Amino acid sequence: MDMTNTAPLRRTGPTAWPRRQWASWLVATLLAGAIALFSLHYLRPGMPSGFPEQLATFREHALWFRLHVVGGAIALALGPFQFLPGLRTKRPGLHRWNGRLYLSGIVAGTVGGLYMAQLSFGGNVTHLGFGLLAVSWFATTAMALRAILAGDVVHHRRWMIRSYALTFAAVTLRLWLPGLAAALPFETAYQLVSWLAWTPNLIAAEIYLRYRPTPPN
Ligand code: HEM
Repeated sequence: MDMTNTAPLRRTGPTAWPRRQWASWLVATLLAGAIALFSLHYLRPGMPSGFPEQLATFREHALWFRLHVVGGAIALALGPFQFLPGLRTKRPGLHRWNGRLYLSGIVAGTVGGLYMAQLSFGGNVTHLGFGLLAVSWFATTAMALRAILAGDVVHHRRWMIRSYALTFAAVTLRLWLPGLAAALPFETAYQLVSWLAWTPNLIAAEIYLRYRPTPPN
């Protein structure tokens, strides 16, 4: 997988999205928004409900856990708007502010996520799966920031596509888990999902970027 492609790339001009791309964006945005909103129930005083196997752990480490959930929810909900055609060219200030919020969400989400990874349900397999996800989440976003600070828009967008593919793990985890848990003992399903939630997303992003080295607007 080519994570360090630094070949010079030319930018294409802005192009309108075809209807199918709008439909995919809308579905992804609605799913991301729904998970972000739903996750906020962990902010209710006393954390009255949630993942039963881990609720005691979440309560005991509430500060770190809530830092993770709030940061993750911000990144998940705001990320899709950065991809909207024309937003960056017509409202560059809005794109930059939304980007700063996305970045802050990821910093908070990563710190909390790394802390929670070593306490996650399922032992070393999930500790490593979630831990590597957190490191990759932070690294891809940091690369995107580095590219834009150097004025390299094309690589900024390529790294942001990878970054959001990883943010979207919060959605894909919840799509995979019911089926896996129906077929396997819950602990095995959860161990598997700590990897399946994000590795296919990253592979899909790489395939997309291979066919579209300069992602269109
Ligand atoms: C992409 C990097 C992410 C990492 C590394 C990560 C890591 C973790 C870890 C380790 C846990 C604890 C699991 C356990 O105790 O077994 C967790 C739970 C949770 N995370 Fe994340 N997470 C990420 C993204 C997100 C995002 C973007 C959200 C958006 C809201 C989110 C929301 C939650 C919620 C709500 C839980 C509680 C478990 C549940 O109700 O399903 N996470 N995460």
